[in-house]
Amino acid sequence: MREVTATVLENKRIADEVYMLTFATEDEIPVRPGQFCMVGVGGFPLRRPIAVCKAEGERITVCYRLKGSGTRALAREYKQGEKLSVLLPLGNGFYVKENEERVAVVGGGVGIFPLIAAIRAYSKTKHVYSYMGFRNRAALCMEYELMRSEKLVVATDDGSIGFHGTAVQAFMREYDEVKPDVVLACGPAPMLRALKVAMEGKGVPVYVSLEERMGCGIGACLVCVCETTGGAHARVCKDGPVFEINDVVL
Ligand SMILES: Cc1cc2nc3c(=O)[nH]c(=O)nc-3n(C[C@H](O)[C@H](O)[C@H](O)COP(=O)(O)OP(=O)(O)OC[C@H]3O[C@@H](n4cnc5c(N)ncnc54)[C@H](O)[C@@H]3O)c2cc1C
Ligand code: FES
Repeated sequence: MREVTATVLENKRIADEVYMLTFATEDEIPVRPGQFCMVGVGGFPLRRPIAVCKAEGERITVCYRLKGSGTRALAREYKQGEKLSVLLPLGNGFYVKENEERVAVVGGGVGIFPLIAAIRAYSKTKHVYSYMGFRNRAALCMEYELMRSEKLVVATDDGSIGFHGTAVQAFMREYDEVKPDVVLACGPAPMLRALKVAMEGKGVPVYVSLEERMGCGIGACLVCVCETTGGAHARVCKDGPVFEINDVVL
């Protein structure tokens, strides 16, 4: 993990309430798919956790939805050339084994952003089938990245584009055809719970990236602990954010 002073290259709106921020670090920092960074926003004591979508040399791209005052200040105040204090890379990230050839990727809401990094990495050598859920057509973004998948199904809550329903429903409709060796997922808790129920007894590993409120992002403050199915606790920032779906209480 490094603390860097990055330079904003671009920070632009890409969909309804969603921004894409690209910044340059001082030198190349290797980032695994599923890892995240903690972005410092002036005037806020706590950094904001945001998944890394793309890491290309010294250029790192993240996408964020406007939520509260921190993300709104990030969108408003950090124009090209501004300096940004960032901790990265953080967390464990996704691991797909060599013999896992068929990778299904299921995402919803801001959960699609860490999955973009996974699609970029694994579509080079594996069969990647992606099921991505959005609120509506206006929320759809980053299609050019999602389309690196061998197959992409977009699902919307209101049916304004693509499959009318959730990403999990879209995935399960095609499950027997896709026959995944592994599933990678990220999204709101109800989506992950639905995926857990749908995948029960199938014997296929499902790795989920969890979103918890964070303080430090580096394992020190315990703000982010989640419960494990064994009755213990895990720090989402340090032990995760990626867990096997059966190892955590959702
Ligand atoms: C590992 C990880 C990766 C994430 N990746 C993305 C991403 O790629 N794109 C994206 O849009 N969002 C992502 N989030 C959620 C993002 O961190 C929150 O939306 C953001 O921190 C909200 O900050 P705010 O100041 O706008 O909101 P406020 O509600 O004002 O924030 C108040 C405090 O709560 C924390 N907080 C609020 N909501 C969340 C949340 N859902 N998760 C974690 N902390 C939260 C904030 O960091 C801040 O410390 C991720 C969260 C985690 C844990
Ligand atoms: S955010 Fe501090 S321990 Fe995870």
